[in-house]
Amino acid sequence: MTKSSKRSVDIRVCCHQILAVSLCGYVPANTEALHYRPMYNEPVIPFRRAGHSVAIQLLYRMCFHDKVVLITGASSGIGAACSLKFAKSSALLSLIGRNEENLTNTANKCEELSGLKPLIIVADITMDEDVQRIVSETINRYGQIDVLINNAGVSSIEGIQKEMDAYDHIMATNARGTYHLTNEVIPYLIKTKGNIINISSILSMKPLPIMTAYCMSKAAIDMATKCLALKLGSTGVRVNAVNPGPVKTDMFKRSGLTEEGITQMLAAVEMNAPLKKITQVENVAELVKFLASDKANCVTGCCYVIDCGISLGDDGKY
Ligand SMILES: NC(=O)c1ccc[n+]([C@@H]2O[C@H](COP(=O)([O-])OP(=O)(O)OC[C@H]3O[C@@H](n4cnc5c(N)ncnc54)[C@H](OP(=O)(O)O)[C@@H]3O)[C@@H](O)[C@H]2O)c1
Repeated sequence: MTKSSKRSVDIRVCCHQILAVSLCGYVPANTEALHYRPMYNEPVIPFRRAGHSVAIQLLYRMCFHDKVVLITGASSGIGAACSLKFAKSSALLSLIGRNEENLTNTANKCEELSGLKPLIIVADITMDEDVQRIVSETINRYGQIDVLINNAGVSSIEGIQKEMDAYDHIMATNARGTYHLTNEVIPYLIKTKGNIINISSILSMKPLPIMTAYCMSKAAIDMATKCLALKLGSTGVRVNAVNPGPVKTDMFKRSGLTEEGITQMLAAVEMNAPLKKITQVENVAELVKFLASDKANCVTGCCYVIDCGISLGDDGKY
């Protein structure tokens, strides 16, 4: 049997399962995902009775069934949350990061949710050979790439680290690493009419003088998003960015802030945010998933702010 005919069998089996769910009210015992994937030699989970609303949920969760999603920075914060979100939707995951222990942790949680073992690739996106290995190992395992989530990123508070060292490190990761990996993945995305989500920041648009290099790197990401959306539009490949405001992750500690400084900063952000709360990693992951899905099939070249209204500034009362 050829690979493509195996794929169509796989998809047809899933359609039958959905039909069974819709007509008879049966779903697999584990409703987080369908586990019937003959092409990956995975087990069939016995069916049990359930209502039609579960069938609808199941269809929703399955929207990334057989889609290969490559996520950089999957070992922590927003990237780890995106990994879990796509695992819940039955995606085939390629998870990238430098910290093997954290990456394995994310992969194990994903496997618990989906029953599918993610591919983990310990790699540094600032290293050219690592970038090539990310693509070759993903293609060797899955044969295709449908979604690229460029999430890996670093920041630095100026004055804490040596300025030009920090600049070089930020640019090498956020701008060059992202750009290089994107270029390597594009030929595969053209084949699948896939899409790219770049994790930018509200600091791409809102200047913050103590993080100038970081702001510059994220402005570069926004512009790359728009240029690539124009360049790739006719191929069917969509390119979008998600621009979060402050989200509590390890990024602040890695930037050189103390625990106390982080707590104070986040409390101030929460108080001043129009929605009086802080964006959570799950909120960002949900937006990423929407943009990566077919529901956003007319969206390209957009930079979506998700910040509880912080970048709107004050409410005009003072
Ligand atoms: N947190 C926020 O407030 C916030 C706001 C706006 C935008 N963002 C953006 O969101 C993205 C994720 O950040 P986060 O908040 O989740 O921070 P985080 O918890 O520090 O995660 C950063 C991730 O990037 C990975 N990474 C960094 N450099 C890498 C490299 N050279 N090669 C491969 N992976 C690398 C890290 O991997 P290892 O740990 O394995 O090294 C880690 O998984 C970043 O692009 C950041 O700029 C964050």
